[in-house]
Amino acid sequence: MDSIIVRGGRELSGTIRIAGAKNAALALMPATLLSDEPLTLTNAPRLSDIKTMATLLQSLGAEVTSMQSGKVLGLSSHAVTSTHADYEIVRKMRASNLVLGPLLARHGQAEVSLPGGCAIGARPMDIHITALEAMGASIELRDGYLHATTKGGLRGAVVPLRFASVGATENILMAASLARGTTVIENAAREPEIVDLARCLRAMGAQIEGEGTSRIEIQGVDRLGGATHQVVTDRIELGTYMLAPVIAGGSVECIGGRLELVSAFAEKLDAAGVSVEQTANGLRVARKNGRPHAVDVVTEPFPGFPTDLQAQMMAMLCTAEGTSVLEERIFENRFMHAPELVRMGAHIEVQGGHATVHGVDRLRGAPVMATDLRASVSLILAGLAAEGETVVNRVYHLDRGYEHVEEKLGQVGADIERITAP
Ligand code: UD1
Repeated sequence: MDSIIVRGGRELSGTIRIAGAKNAALALMPATLLSDEPLTLTNAPRLSDIKTMATLLQSLGAEVTSMQSGKVLGLSSHAVTSTHADYEIVRKMRASNLVLGPLLARHGQAEVSLPGGCAIGARPMDIHITALEAMGASIELRDGYLHATTKGGLRGAVVPLRFASVGATENILMAASLARGTTVIENAAREPEIVDLARCLRAMGAQIEGEGTSRIEIQGVDRLGGATHQVVTDRIELGTYMLAPVIAGGSVECIGGRLELVSAFAEKLDAAGVSVEQTANGLRVARKNGRPHAVDVVTEPFPGFPTDLQAQMMAMLCTAEGTSVLEERIFENRFMHAPELVRMGAHIEVQGGHATVHGVDRLRGAPVMATDLRASVSLILAGLAAEGETVVNRVYHLDRGYEHVEEKLGQVGADIERITAP
């Protein structure tokens, strides 16, 4: 398995181009199942999770063509031959559950394995199931699979979500687009990736209002057509690279970055004494004077501080001045990077959903292990500030969500290389 070696202590300077959002693309790709006309996605990120979704869609009979080295995806589902999302694919990635809504809406049935994905908590599917049942689906759990059917198709309903789940909002949005009548999602997730999906569905002919707010109204239509859609910028990749110069020192401009995608995160950087400036092409981040200051962070659904930036923020706070408290409210088991950061000399105490980080002057390089996608990149970030060599092992998690991380950080001056396993 590949590993990444980082030798810390270099200041960073230059530009990094931010890719299209993994989490948006993973919801946009299954939208192909709703139509027999082609869907083209531009600005797609080149990641193993995208390949996993392509494999899943192909196993259902969809055609997926990768163009321009993967930056453009052509999807077509004129002949869906299967409604069975197999465990062997689904276990690799939780977002595979996003085929459930579209399959059910267009084909009246779906068998979807319960998902796996990052080991960051139980991550059940009850919110998806309750909503689809309210829309007329019958769903049973048998042999590790959700068996979903509808008699006479899905119908619109008012579906209040007990929690603003991103995946459930996306599944319902897709299902409701082809349901009979009006669906209202109450307490809907408001993430930019939801807005992106709604825009794409609208381009395909769906009637949706209110995306980006907690009440989305969808008027079902008989059929959806084709569309070409540009995937929104990846706000998590953006936030990750914004932290690189804060940790290593220097200044980096993240091309494609927009403040409204990361406002809660940028506010915390500001409070930590970091300069964040919107430029014509993106966001420029620079460490002002010496070490950043400690700040407290609570993860929340958008527009709050994203859980997917919590590990990276913790890596930064390890060398900030003072004591910070991070509270994780989205996932119950998402501090697995903390013991690895401690191996690099960080001073962190974890108690339940809280982590207290006492800033230290300097981290020291060490062999560390990546336990999930965002944890793995947090260790690379920490390595940028560490004395000596940090070897991040098991980086397959990283490749799920970050394209060419060693090239992107290398081009702004980091000393980083990938050791490819024989
Ligand atoms: C999406 C993102 C993921 C991000 C997460 C929270 C994608 C592909 N992934 O994941 O990177 O970390 O949003 O911002 O977009 N829950 C339930 N029952 C359900 C569904 C969810 O209890 O039916 C719980 C989960 O266990 C978790 C929380 O709700 O604790 C958030 O989950 P959700 O918003 O659904 O996240 P995902 O869509 O899986």
